[in-house]
Amino acid sequence: MRIFSGIRPTGSLHLGNYLGAIKQWIDLQETHECVFCIVDLHAITTPYDKKELQKNIFETLIVYLAAGINPEKSVIFVQSHIKEHPELAWLLGTITPLGELQRMTQFKEKSKTNKAYINAGLLSYPVLMAADILLYRAEAVPVGKDQGQHVELTRSIAKKFNQKFGQTFKEPESLIPKEGAKIMSLTDPKKKMSKSDDPKSCIFLFDSPEDIQRKIMSAQTDSGKDVIYNVTKKPGISNLFTIYSLLANKTTQDLEKEFKGKNYGEFKKSLAKIVIDYLEPFRRKQKELSLREVYLQEILKQSQSRALTIAQETMREVKEKMGLL
Ligand code: TRP
Repeated sequence: MRIFSGIRPTGSLHLGNYLGAIKQWIDLQETHECVFCIVDLHAITTPYDKKELQKNIFETLIVYLAAGINPEKSVIFVQSHIKEHPELAWLLGTITPLGELQRMTQFKEKSKTNKAYINAGLLSYPVLMAADILLYRAEAVPVGKDQGQHVELTRSIAKKFNQKFGQTFKEPESLIPKEGAKIMSLTDPKKKMSKSDDPKSCIFLFDSPEDIQRKIMSAQTDSGKDVIYNVTKKPGISNLFTIYSLLANKTTQDLEKEFKGKNYGEFKKSLAKIVIDYLEPFRRKQKELSLREVYLQEILKQSQSRALTIAQETMREVKEKMGLL
């Protein structure tokens, strides 16, 4: 079974990205053939800085590698390096109803936040994502909760294609982690952790131990003082519980027992240590890899040729079925 996933190179990745997506990828690559894409063509649908983009592409690659993706096993490449992605997206766009795209939650939200930049690319973003997935005939797509709707649309595009042009694509499933799919902001636990908010709200994967310590100790907590997990009554502490439980591999019940009779401060102090230790190898590998640009280029080059072989093969079949060959 082949797995496909992508991440937009839009700047430093944080704990929410890691726990919501990348962490699963590391486990999946042990048992599946995995294709991981740095989706730069998606990144340019919202305002961006030309120079930052290149830097972010490399930084995203470094995160993948530092987090444990093994380039000898998994394919890691940059979306814009393979022109079959936009090519297939164009073809799939011709069978995607406009209304479906207009009702996508992400399109509606991004149109609201970037009022001056509602471009056609933002609207057809999910079609390009469908092309990414279908080009590799992926059967499972590990993503965060917010991307579930786009994978759903991919299924319906695949189905439509099969009906119109004959069986070609399997309908891919999304793999959404139950816990951790949504890590909340440290300063406002009602909102998702996001790099575009206050930097104090967000733990970046390469944050220094001092920053991590400071951010966790000042994370918003709730009224009362018992360290218990209750998302509606104690959203702040519960978000910290989620992070703790995923990184330390303990259930929230175990943690409640462990911290019975202790206060928020003690809980946070212990969590800060867990996070700092967990991210230590990330910081180390990041330092190492950022000095090895030639090695990074080489990884991209080799992966690209593996990806291209699959992509070209799919395109040939699709074009033939659509009457274009
Ligand atoms: N849209 C995804 C996100 O914002 C990124 C993405 C692009 C993706 N293409 C993909 C994810 C294909 C999974 C599969 O997170």
